[in-house]
Amino acid sequence: MSCDSSVAIAAMRSLGLGKTRREVPVLQIVPSIFAANFMRLGDEIRRVEEAGVRMIHVDIMDGHFVPNFTMGTPITESIRRFSKIKLDHHLMIEDPDTYAPIFIKAGADAVSVHYEVCRNLDRTLHMIKEHGALAGVVINPATSTRLLENVLDIVDYVLVMSVNPGYGGQTFIPNSLNKVRELYRFREERRLNFFIEIDGGAGPENVADIARAGVDWVVAGSSVFHSPDAAEAVRDMQRTAEEAISIRV
Ligand code: DX5
Ligand code: ZN
Repeated sequence: MSCDSSVAIAAMRSLGLGKTRREVPVLQIVPSIFAANFMRLGDEIRRVEEAGVRMIHVDIMDGHFVPNFTMGTPITESIRRFSKIKLDHHLMIEDPDTYAPIFIKAGADAVSVHYEVCRNLDRTLHMIKEHGALAGVVINPATSTRLLENVLDIVDYVLVMSVNPGYGGQTFIPNSLNKVRELYRFREERRLNFFIEIDGGAGPENVADIARAGVDWVVAGSSVFHSPDAAEAVRDMQRTAEEAISIRV
Protein backbone atom coordinates (compact mmCIF):
# COMPACT_ATOMS: atom_id res chain seq x y z
CA MET A 1 0.00 0.00 0.00
CA SER A 2 1.29 3.44 -0.89
CA CYS A 3 2.18 5.92 1.83
CA ASP A 4 0.04 8.52 0.11
CA SER A 5 -3.72 8.62 0.11
CA SER A 6 -3.68 9.76 -3.53
CA VAL A 7 -3.72 6.10 -4.60
CA ALA A 8 -6.89 5.42 -2.63
CA ILE A 9 -8.40 8.69 -3.82
CA ALA A 10 -7.66 7.87 -7.47
CA ALA A 11 -9.28 4.47 -7.01
CA MET A 12 -12.37 5.97 -5.40
CA ARG A 13 -12.57 8.55 -8.18
CA SER A 14 -12.41 5.91 -10.88
CA LEU A 15 -15.46 4.27 -9.30
CA GLY A 16 -17.39 7.49 -9.01
CA LEU A 17 -16.45 7.88 -5.36
CA GLY A 18 -14.19 10.85 -6.02
CA LYS A 19 -12.03 12.73 -3.61
CA THR A 20 -14.46 15.58 -3.46
CA ARG A 21 -18.19 15.50 -2.97
CA ARG A 22 -18.69 17.60 -6.08
CA GLU A 23 -17.18 14.86 -8.26
CA VAL A 24 -19.73 12.29 -7.12
CA PRO A 25 -22.80 12.09 -9.33
CA VAL A 26 -25.29 10.49 -6.97
CA LEU A 27 -25.85 9.37 -3.43
CA GLN A 28 -24.37 5.95 -2.70
CA ILE A 29 -26.08 3.11 -0.84
CA VAL A 30 -23.35 1.41 1.19
CA PRO A 31 -24.53 -2.02 2.43
CA SER A 32 -23.22 -3.09 5.83
CA ILE A 33 -22.07 -6.72 5.79
CA PHE A 34 -22.70 -6.92 9.53
CA ALA A 35 -26.24 -7.92 8.54
CA ALA A 36 -25.16 -10.37 5.82
CA ASN A 37 -25.22 -14.15 6.04
CA PHE A 38 -21.56 -15.03 6.65
CA MET A 39 -22.09 -18.61 5.43
CA ARG A 40 -22.43 -17.11 1.97
CA LEU A 41 -20.73 -13.74 2.24
CA GLY A 42 -19.27 -13.92 -1.27
CA ASP A 43 -22.71 -14.37 -2.85
CA GLU A 44 -24.16 -11.59 -0.72
CA ILE A 45 -21.46 -9.18 -1.91
CA ARG A 46 -21.85 -10.26 -5.55
CA ARG A 47 -25.60 -9.62 -5.36
CA VAL A 48 -25.21 -6.02 -4.21
CA GLU A 49 -22.37 -5.41 -6.68
CA GLU A 50 -24.78 -6.44 -9.44
CA ALA A 51 -27.17 -3.79 -8.15
CA GLY A 52 -24.50 -1.12 -8.70
CA VAL A 53 -22.99 -0.96 -5.22
CA ARG A 54 -19.44 0.38 -5.31
CA MET A 55 -18.60 0.29 -1.63
CA ILE A 56 -19.56 -1.85 1.34
CA HIS A 57 -19.39 -1.03 5.03
CA VAL A 58 -17.37 -3.22 7.39
CA ASP A 59 -18.17 -2.84 11.10
CA ILE A 60 -15.25 -3.60 13.40
CA MET A 61 -16.24 -3.95 17.07
CA ASP A 62 -13.92 -4.79 19.96
CA GLY A 63 -16.30 -5.60 22.84
CA HIS A 64 -15.00 -2.56 24.76
CA PHE A 65 -16.05 0.60 22.94
CA VAL A 66 -19.28 -1.19 22.07
CA PRO A 67 -20.80 -4.21 23.80
CA ASN A 68 -20.33 -6.53 20.82
CA PHE A 69 -17.62 -8.22 18.76
CA THR A 70 -17.40 -8.57 15.02
CA MET A 71 -14.68 -9.37 12.56
CA GLY A 72 -10.94 -9.02 12.26
CA THR A 73 -8.56 -8.71 9.32
CA PRO A 74 -9.14 -12.19 7.79
CA ILE A 75 -12.58 -11.05 6.58
CA THR A 76 -11.13 -7.87 5.07
CA GLU A 77 -8.36 -9.85 3.37
CA SER A 78 -10.79 -12.44 2.00
CA ILE A 79 -13.11 -9.82 0.52
CA ARG A 80 -10.13 -7.97 -0.95
CA ARG A 81 -8.94 -11.13 -2.72
CA PHE A 82 -12.44 -11.92 -3.95
CA SER A 83 -13.66 -8.50 -5.13
CA LYS A 84 -12.51 -5.03 -6.12
CA ILE A 85 -15.39 -3.41 -4.25
CA LYS A 86 -14.35 -0.49 -2.04
CA LEU A 87 -14.21 -1.28 1.67
CA ASP A 88 -15.37 1.33 4.15
CA HIS A 89 -14.21 0.29 7.63
CA HIS A 90 -16.04 1.68 10.67
CA LEU A 91 -13.78 1.15 13.68
CA MET A 92 -15.88 0.87 16.84
CA ILE A 93 -12.79 0.15 18.90
CA GLU A 94 -10.86 1.74 21.76
CA ASP A 95 -7.49 1.70 20.01
CA PRO A 96 -7.83 2.86 16.40
CA ASP A 97 -4.22 4.09 16.28
CA THR A 98 -2.95 0.51 16.53
CA TYR A 99 -5.54 -1.16 14.31
CA ALA A 100 -6.26 1.36 11.53
CA PRO A 101 -2.94 0.64 9.75
CA ILE A 102 -3.52 -3.10 10.13
CA PHE A 103 -6.93 -2.91 8.47
CA ILE A 104 -5.57 -0.64 5.73
CA LYS A 105 -2.83 -3.18 5.02
CA ALA A 106 -5.52 -5.88 4.89
CA GLY A 107 -7.45 -3.93 2.23
CA ALA A 108 -9.53 -1.13 3.76
CA ASP A 109 -9.97 1.84 1.37
CA ALA A 110 -11.67 4.17 3.85
CA VAL A 111 -11.37 4.07 7.64
CA SER A 112 -13.46 5.98 10.14
CA VAL A 113 -12.62 6.45 13.81
CA HIS A 114 -14.89 7.57 16.64
CA TYR A 115 -14.47 11.09 17.98
CA GLU A 116 -15.27 9.67 21.42
CA VAL A 117 -12.11 7.53 21.64
CA CYS A 118 -9.48 9.66 19.90
CA ARG A 119 -7.31 11.68 22.27
CA ASN A 120 -5.26 13.02 19.35
CA LEU A 121 -7.84 13.04 16.59
CA ASP A 122 -5.90 15.31 14.23
CA ARG A 123 -2.89 13.00 14.41
CA THR A 124 -5.00 9.87 13.93
CA LEU A 125 -6.71 11.28 10.83
CA HIS A 126 -3.39 12.28 9.28
CA MET A 127 -1.99 8.84 10.07
CA ILE A 128 -4.87 7.13 8.24
CA LYS A 129 -4.28 9.29 5.17
CA GLU A 130 -0.54 8.64 5.28
CA HIS A 131 -1.27 4.93 5.19
CA GLY A 132 -3.20 5.40 1.97
CA ALA A 133 -6.87 5.34 3.00
CA LEU A 134 -9.61 7.94 3.11
CA ALA A 135 -9.98 9.23 6.68
CA GLY A 136 -13.36 9.58 8.36
CA VAL A 137 -14.51 10.73 11.78
CA VAL A 138 -17.63 9.26 13.41
CA ILE A 139 -19.89 10.88 15.99
CA ASN A 140 -22.29 9.04 18.27
CA PRO A 141 -25.88 10.29 18.69
CA ALA A 142 -24.92 12.17 21.89
CA THR A 143 -21.93 13.93 20.32
CA SER A 144 -22.36 17.38 18.81
CA THR A 145 -21.21 18.29 15.29
CA ARG A 146 -19.69 21.45 16.78
CA LEU A 147 -16.88 19.37 18.24
CA LEU A 148 -15.70 18.53 14.73
CA GLU A 149 -15.18 22.10 13.63
CA ASN A 150 -11.39 21.90 13.78
CA VAL A 151 -11.02 18.70 11.77
CA LEU A 152 -13.52 19.26 8.98
CA ASP A 153 -10.80 20.57 6.70
CA ILE A 154 -8.78 17.37 7.24
CA VAL A 155 -11.38 14.61 6.98
CA ASP A 156 -12.48 12.93 3.78
CA TYR A 157 -15.82 12.03 5.37
CA VAL A 158 -17.93 12.45 8.49
CA LEU A 159 -20.06 9.54 9.66
CA VAL A 160 -23.12 10.53 11.67
CA MET A 161 -24.37 7.62 13.78
CA SER A 162 -28.15 7.48 13.59
CA VAL A 163 -28.27 4.72 16.24
CA ASN A 164 -26.03 4.01 19.20
CA PRO A 165 -23.26 1.80 17.80
CA GLY A 166 -22.97 -1.89 18.57
CA TYR A 167 -25.99 -3.54 16.98
CA GLY A 168 -27.82 -3.74 13.69
CA GLY A 169 -31.56 -3.44 13.26
CA GLN A 170 -32.10 -0.51 15.63
CA THR A 171 -34.51 2.39 15.17
CA PHE A 172 -33.28 5.50 13.35
CA ILE A 173 -32.80 8.52 15.64
CA PRO A 174 -34.46 11.48 13.83
CA ASN A 175 -32.18 14.16 15.33
CA SER A 176 -29.35 12.70 13.21
CA LEU A 177 -30.81 14.56 10.24
CA ASN A 178 -30.38 17.89 12.04
CA LYS A 179 -26.73 16.99 12.46
CA VAL A 180 -26.46 16.16 8.76
CA ARG A 181 -28.00 19.55 7.90
CA GLU A 182 -25.53 21.32 10.21
CA LEU A 183 -22.61 19.57 8.53
CA TYR A 184 -24.03 20.29 5.09
CA ARG A 185 -24.36 23.99 5.92
CA PHE A 186 -20.88 24.12 7.39
CA ARG A 187 -19.47 22.45 4.28
CA GLU A 188 -21.16 25.00 2.03
CA GLU A 189 -20.12 28.00 4.14
CA ARG A 190 -16.49 26.94 4.36
CA ARG A 191 -16.37 25.49 0.86
CA LEU A 192 -15.13 22.16 2.17
CA ASN A 193 -15.39 18.83 0.41
CA PHE A 194 -15.90 16.04 2.93
CA PHE A 195 -18.59 13.42 2.30
CA ILE A 196 -21.43 12.97 4.78
CA GLU A 197 -22.28 9.40 5.71
CA ILE A 198 -25.10 8.13 7.93
CA ASP A 199 -25.24 4.77 9.69
CA GLY A 200 -28.03 2.95 11.50
CA GLY A 201 -31.72 2.33 10.93
CA ALA A 202 -31.73 3.49 7.30
CA GLY A 203 -34.22 1.86 4.97
CA PRO A 204 -36.78 2.48 2.24
CA GLU A 205 -39.09 4.33 4.65
CA ASN A 206 -36.60 7.09 5.56
CA VAL A 207 -34.07 7.18 2.71
CA ALA A 208 -35.87 10.07 1.00
CA ASP A 209 -35.55 12.25 4.13
CA ILE A 210 -31.93 11.15 4.51
CA ALA A 211 -31.16 12.11 0.92
CA ARG A 212 -32.92 15.48 1.20
CA ALA A 213 -30.95 16.32 4.36
CA GLY A 214 -27.76 16.10 2.30
CA VAL A 215 -26.25 12.66 2.98
CA ASP A 216 -23.80 11.31 0.38
CA TRP A 217 -23.28 7.75 1.67
CA VAL A 218 -26.16 5.81 3.26
CA VAL A 219 -25.11 2.73 5.22
CA ALA A 220 -27.82 0.08 5.20
CA GLY A 221 -27.52 -3.27 6.97
CA SER A 222 -30.75 -5.08 7.78
CA SER A 223 -32.80 -3.18 5.21
CA VAL A 224 -30.57 -4.70 2.51
CA PHE A 225 -29.39 -8.11 3.73
CA HIS A 226 -32.50 -9.09 5.71
CA SER A 227 -34.77 -8.34 2.78
CA PRO A 228 -35.84 -11.18 0.47
CA ASP A 229 -33.74 -9.76 -2.39
CA ALA A 230 -30.69 -7.68 -1.42
CA ALA A 231 -30.11 -6.37 -4.95
CA GLU A 232 -33.71 -5.24 -5.30
CA ALA A 233 -33.56 -3.58 -1.87
CA VAL A 234 -30.50 -1.57 -2.94
CA ARG A 235 -32.06 -0.55 -6.26
CA ASP A 236 -35.26 0.46 -4.52
CA MET A 237 -33.48 2.64 -1.95
CA GLN A 238 -31.23 4.15 -4.61
CA ARG A 239 -34.25 5.04 -6.76
CA THR A 240 -36.16 6.55 -3.86
CA ALA A 241 -33.15 8.61 -2.79
CA GLU A 242 -32.45 9.93 -6.29
CA GLU A 243 -36.09 10.88 -6.78
CA ALA A 244 -36.08 12.74 -3.45
CA ILE A 245 -32.96 14.70 -4.40
CA SER A 246 -34.23 15.55 -7.87
CA ILE A 247 -37.45 16.89 -6.38
CA ARG A 248 -35.44 19.03 -3.93
CA VAL A 249 -33.30 20.57 -6.68
C1 DX5 B 1 -24.10 -0.37 14.14
C2 DX5 B 1 -23.27 -0.46 12.89
C3 DX5 B 1 -24.05 -0.33 11.66
C4 DX5 B 1 -25.02 -1.45 11.40
C5 DX5 B 1 -26.21 -0.84 10.70
O1 DX5 B 1 -23.27 -0.22 15.22
O2 DX5 B 1 -22.29 0.57 12.88
O3 DX5 B 1 -23.21 -0.17 10.53
O4 DX5 B 1 -24.49 -2.47 10.61
O5 DX5 B 1 -27.21 -1.76 10.67
P1 DX5 B 1 -28.72 -1.36 10.36
O6 DX5 B 1 -28.72 -0.74 8.98
O7 DX5 B 1 -29.43 -2.66 10.42
O8 DX5 B 1 -29.14 -0.38 11.40
ZN1 ZN C 1 -21.23 0.99 10.98
